[in-house]
Amino acid sequence: MPRESLSFLALEPGMTVVDGTLGGGGHTRLLAQAVGPTGRVIAIDRDPLAIDRGARELAGLPIRFAQANFRDIPEVLDAVGVETVDGVLLDVGLSSDQLADRSRGFSFEADGPLDLRFDPTEGEPAWRLVNRLRPETLADLIYEFGEERYSRRIARRIAAARERQPIESARDFARLVASAIPRQSPPPRIHPATRTFQALRIAVNEELKSLQIALERIPTRLRPGGRLVVISFHSLEDRLVKTAFRSPQTWDCLTRSPREAQPDEVGANSRSRSARLRAAARLA
Ligand SMILES: C[S@@+](CC[C@H](N)C(=O)[O-])C[C@H]1O[C@@H](n2cnc3c(N)ncnc32)[C@H](O)[C@@H]1O
Repeated sequence: MPRESLSFLALEPGMTVVDGTLGGGGHTRLLAQAVGPTGRVIAIDRDPLAIDRGARELAGLPIRFAQANFRDIPEVLDAVGVETVDGVLLDVGLSSDQLADRSRGFSFEADGPLDLRFDPTEGEPAWRLVNRLRPETLADLIYEFGEERYSRRIARRIAAARERQPIESARDFARLVASAIPRQSPPPRIHPATRTFQALRIAVNEELKSLQIALERIPTRLRPGGRLVVISFHSLEDRLVKTAFRSPQTWDCLTRSPREAQPDEVGANSRSRSARLRAAARLA
């Protein structure tokens, strides 16, 4: 949601802004253009491949890149010698590049391992989690983070399959999950394994914990009047943002209800259908 993000960030030439989720660099480029050559963007991503690509494709713009978790924004700012910033953007979740990379397990057709980590050097890959967790724990995780009503059936099917042989590839796992879900008529718009993949991705990357910590720490480095814009794709994430922005000592919430993508953006990028944007200004 580039138009809405830029409008709420209210950037001016010379300002300093953090893009906590570089991804494919679309938003970062717009932020760099808005602050101009006298300003600067600090672009963060957990994914080292996103950082490499950004550094290559956005060379020449006033951007500093950091491979880090956005919950560590204060440490990243310390490292580049910046005390406070004028704005922060978080566009959380998965990038199109990650989805398209068949070696990382984000796509249902990926023949690579079911990994699902944003930073492939940190934490436990999803295939290990699904081979290790007790079926009840797996079911709870799929239910909570995926809001999947067939979580128990899916967990039972996983437990039976891994008795025969350990789960490895993302494609085989997607088929296994799909086989546990009753056929629906008309068929759903999304792949039957979508919610389970989302749940596992949120778990292996500790996505809710990162967002919660970032929401607590960002105000310490945002100047009074500075803006925070968060775009999320999951109701649990949106709830964290909504709750944080309710703090009357810290935030002046600029979005009473979350903004959604305009039809033209949904037409061009169907995943933006579930995007929810909230914005707030830091109080003095
Ligand atoms: C939806 S994409 C961002 C797309 C980007 N705004 C663009 O214009 O292309 C989300 C990105 O955030 C990264 N990410 C997710 N959680 C993160 C975290 N806690 N810290 C840093 N990066 C994170 C992912 O690796 C992914 O590249």
